[in-house]
Amino acid sequence: MATIKIENLQKSFADFTAVKNSNLTIHNKEFFVLLGPSGCGKTTTLRMIAGLELPTSGKIYLDQDEVSLLRASERDIAFVFQLFALYPHMNVKNNLAFPLKMQKYSRTEIKERVMEAAKLLRIDNILDAKISSLAGGDRQRVALGRALVRRPKAFLMDEPLGTLDSEFRELMCLELRKLHDDIDATTVYVTHDQQEAMSMADRIAVMNEGEILQADAPSVIYNKPKSKFVASFIGSPAMNFIPFNQAVQKNQTEINIEGVKIKIPNQHENSAGQENFLGIRPENLKLVSNGGISGKVFGIEYLGSRKIVTIDTSFGKIKVRIDSNVNLDIEENVQFTPSNNNQIIFDGKTDKSLISDFLS
Ligand SMILES: Nc1ncnc2c1ncn2[C@@H]1O[C@H](COP(=O)(O)OP(=O)(O)O)[C@@H](O)[C@H]1O
Ligand SMILES: [Mg+2]
Repeated sequence: MATIKIENLQKSFADFTAVKNSNLTIHNKEFFVLLGPSGCGKTTTLRMIAGLELPTSGKIYLDQDEVSLLRASERDIAFVFQLFALYPHMNVKNNLAFPLKMQKYSRTEIKERVMEAAKLLRIDNILDAKISSLAGGDRQRVALGRALVRRPKAFLMDEPLGTLDSEFRELMCLELRKLHDDIDATTVYVTHDQQEAMSMADRIAVMNEGEILQADAPSVIYNKPKSKFVASFIGSPAMNFIPFNQAVQKNQTEINIEGVKIKIPNQHENSAGQENFLGIRPENLKLVSNGGISGKVFGIEYLGSRKIVTIDTSFGKIKVRIDSNVNLDIEENVQFTPSNNNQIIFDGKTDKSLISDFLS
């Protein structure tokens, strides 16, 4: 298995730059997720790593070797396309053998590699079964097996669960992560689904408009987002952003929102301008009977042990997570305030977090 490194990687199509000056090191055996909205350059990045697209500039390394300009077939990397694109009329054994037959491996070599992959994936007991008779999890194993027989250094997957319904998808996420761990693979996995990314990844790179904004462990991305974009892309329900027209100074300990004094973390930088945002996740707000920011209950979502209450305020809708046993009426006047010191201030001009230790 392998380390993948990309250095100042760039890809332009005519005068449009789809991937801008990207730098990443994906560690050996890591499950690494590229996450971002549609069109942000995930597939293009992955295709460059695979060798299906050549970079306009920059370099790609597989372990010590530079592979930037090598063909896909020379890279020892397996691109797992749609996980379910198997040959349904063939049995498992022939599906696994197919890529090796295409590459004209000898019969004994094919047999050995098919058995090896089948054992690793625990499908050696169903080698004669037809694909059409298999359950989803087994099909996924076969699809991975088809990549595995090539003994690649890394697996690349581009939204492999894209078309599945959500319940099945959750199960497949777990399966896929387990398979990754079983075979000690290095995996680069592309998705636009933040929940999928959060549940599977060792580390996530959040992309937007061709740029990698942050690459960190899921908990760091969630708790210490370096920019408002990253903060808004991760978490469900999403982080609240309360705008305020006030410059922030380095040693400031509170800000004023609608005449209410709100404490802010004191480890921050000066803001570049007057328009900034206070970012607070719904679980870090609480309802109070007085002294908070005012609003009216707009909606209540019941989630079992918790409720999410949406509050209409003069600066937009704010979501607060509360206990299920708290009863509220629509249109009721309420007040809310941070329940801890986990707020983040975002610079309205640069989009960056002002919390200094998030940026290091
Ligand atoms: N072959 C191509 N020619 C021109 N533009 C392309 C090509 N491939 C991708 N793009 C553009 O590059 C941007 C990034 O595409 P892509 O990497 O597929 O994004 P993602 O996978 O994140 O949805 C998009 O705006 C897309 O239209
Ligand atoms: Mg894509």
